[in-house]
Amino acid sequence: MIERRAWGRTGMEVPVIGQGTWQMEEDGRAQCVRAIRAGLDVGLTHIDTAELYGRGEVEDIVGEAIEGRRDEVFLVSKVLPSNASRAGTVEACERSLRALRTDHLDSYLLHWPGPHPLEETIAGFEELVRGGKIRSWGVSNFDVEAMEDALRIAGEGKIACNQVLYHVEERTIEHEVLPFCEAHGIALVGYSPYGSGRFPDDDPTLLGIADTHGATPYQIALAFLTRHPATFTIPKAANPAHVVENARVVHLSEDELSAIDQAFPLGRSRRLPTL
Ligand SMILES: NC(=O)c1ccc[n+]([C@@H]2O[C@H](COP(=O)([O-])OP(=O)(O)OC[C@H]3O[C@@H](n4cnc5c(N)ncnc54)[C@H](OP(=O)(O)O)[C@@H]3O)[C@@H](O)[C@H]2O)c1
Repeated sequence: MIERRAWGRTGMEVPVIGQGTWQMEEDGRAQCVRAIRAGLDVGLTHIDTAELYGRGEVEDIVGEAIEGRRDEVFLVSKVLPSNASRAGTVEACERSLRALRTDHLDSYLLHWPGPHPLEETIAGFEELVRGGKIRSWGVSNFDVEAMEDALRIAGEGKIACNQVLYHVEERTIEHEVLPFCEAHGIALVGYSPYGSGRFPDDDPTLLGIADTHGATPYQIALAFLTRHPATFTIPKAANPAHVVENARVVHLSEDELSAIDQAFPLGRSRRLPTL
């Protein structure tokens, strides 16, 4: 059973581990559909996608995978910054809903800060909430300054999440973004938990802890990345065996957490990186 956590202050509870879908179209449609459904079977019901991915193809694949199972899914998609005017946000969402074969998203995010004033994008999000097309909205790749702007415009309790880069070798968000999210009741969704495929699976600390738990270094990394109560993680896996592996939650001791903290130190930079 995968633990559920508060999705910001929306009142919704969401599995702490989800399924990413970036570049999934490269793995072939049938394989992706199988993988996503295998994830649903083991409780990875939080699915993250975006209009950007495969230029709409990935949303279409996700739509096929969740057909008939929509009620099980917490479905998240993202608007491209270049589309995120007020009207553009509403239109982009409607396109995504068609591709995903659903009438609503559980959360809709601005993919990264872009050219349209944030007031416009937020007005679009609020219109979509009023119309029942999205149940919550959030942001992605926002540093603290951008989060402060969003909070000033929207008010407390409106921003459900901030989705940011977070893996053992890239922990910058722990300096400022994570404390900010915790202080304002905003979920922090860590993306690329395996460094987009560049994962240190031969690291002796991860291997040693994995051995103690009869687990893999990948599972140990997910446990580390979700050790704070506001955090979620969304590994992408097109291989169904990987999906099943990602759904096993390992509980780490304080000593194990601090060993990982030392093996993969936080680093000094406070500037939020993106891919
Ligand atoms: N908001 C943003 O700007 C942003 C940016 C990047 C990513 N994201 C989101 O975050 C998701 C995850 O990040 P990502 O796609 O960059 O990559 P990732 O999840 O860090 O890594 C994916 C890679 O790890 C492999 N893998 C997955 N589970 C594994 C396991 N248990 N054992 C061994 N290998 C495993 C996958 O292989 P197989 O596919 O072969 O299973 C794939 O090669 C994205 O898909 C997307 O939804 C958001």
